Amino acid sequence: MSHIRGRFHKAADKSVTEYTASISFDRRLYRHDIAGSIAHAKMLAKQGIISDKEAETIINGLAAIREEIEQGKFQFKPELEDIHMSIEARLREKVGEVGGKLHTARSRNDQVALDLRLFTKEAISETIVKLKEFQQALISLAEVNKGVIMPGYTHLQPAQPVLLAHHLLAYFEMLQRDIDRFNDCLRRTDVMPLGSGAVAGVAYNIDRDFLARELGFGQISQNSIDTVSDRDFVLEYEAAASLCMMHLSRLAEEIILWSSAEFNFIELDEAYTTGSSIMPQKKNPDVAELVRGKTGRVYGRLMAWLVTMKALPLSYNRDMQEDKEGFFDTVDTLLSTLEVFTGMVKTLRVKAENTEQAARQGYILATDLADYLVKKGEAFRTAHNIVARLVSYAMEKGKSFSELSPGEYKEFSPLFGEDVYSISLESSVAARDVIGGTAPKRVAEALSRAKKIISSFKNPSP
Ligand code: ARG
Repeated sequence: MSHIRGRFHKAADKSVTEYTASISFDRRLYRHDIAGSIAHAKMLAKQGIISDKEAETIINGLAAIREEIEQGKFQFKPELEDIHMSIEARLREKVGEVGGKLHTARSRNDQVALDLRLFTKEAISETIVKLKEFQQALISLAEVNKGVIMPGYTHLQPAQPVLLAHHLLAYFEMLQRDIDRFNDCLRRTDVMPLGSGAVAGVAYNIDRDFLARELGFGQISQNSIDTVSDRDFVLEYEAAASLCMMHLSRLAEEIILWSSAEFNFIELDEAYTTGSSIMPQKKNPDVAELVRGKTGRVYGRLMAWLVTMKALPLSYNRDMQEDKEGFFDTVDTLLSTLEVFTGMVKTLRVKAENTEQAARQGYILATDLADYLVKKGEAFRTAHNIVARLVSYAMEKGKSFSELSPGEYKEFSPLFGEDVYSISLESSVAARDVIGGTAPKRVAEALSRAKKIISSFKNPSP
């Protein structure tokens, strides 16, 4: 560290070195750091700021360091603070004084911004790929259970019958919005920061366009002060991840309910469940519970980082080093959640006989009876009232709608005829024949639309 402690008369206290070091977690950025340094060295040579020979020495040295790290031969030292210093120090050990030229026209402030943007671009594209796989699993499950009817719920009370496939495709839509959000985040992450220096820009004739091309960025940042103090892209990923986890958590909650003895709508594959250490009969949906549980942790990371950033004066402040652990954890949590949840969805089995049995309970076709009267000329509010009284009567008698006699129907409205008995779960879903409705024909259209969206998917290259 002598190269940055030159103005001091003392070494940093050991506790300070440990407290301020980020190497234990930012070593994860080694590939991005080296890629950035190689591009920077090439640019410096192209601009005549260093010689071609010097650039070659530096680049070869950096490539060798990457090897060392990948083979586990690199010695990370806390006194070298972070990944940027560690790599640069090792470079100077390997190639001597010329290694000291790499940091010309650069600061760790634009360097860390670069590394983190490169990392985030990769993370986004991996996330989107995994979201697509999850969507595919939903589509497959919907297709296998194409005709299956279940209760649609509001207030967790049976409301109207729906196709299970329709219910599953609701999650397809949520995840599609998540993908949109990550793509949007990618657009704003795809901005090349090098050239901003510590805060003011750099006093050399550098070529930022060249750097952007070398490193695969679509845009170049436009204000050096903003560039070194901006972590919006981290927050955007964390916010998009939070929304996505919220969606996954809702499905997880439904899976937990559905696999309970009380609902008994699905059977989870044994590979995705756990037993109990005391109760031999248990088969627990722990994976789904952890999806739900980890959602809180992802929200927490978002909140922590928003709070950390909220009152930082421009531009870079060391507080910003706190971005990484929470962010890495969010990325890891979301990716592993998507992976394991996809497997669970792929392997779960729907108990169609039970979902349909549940849909037959209660008076789930009450809306259809009201609609029936409306078609015969009754005003909807009046029809609603008639059927409400009919439900109350049937409950008292302990009868279902199909068990009421024509005479009993007639007592509530003269408009009821024999055809009232043709109202069924099937006729109910078939009647919801609007765009976005649960009619089998519409759900089949929605399925093919979903499949088209999946098959036209192009992996956003990081
Ligand atoms: N380890 C630092 C971070 O993660 C890198 C930038 C350090 N810059 C500085 N001026 N100390 O933010």
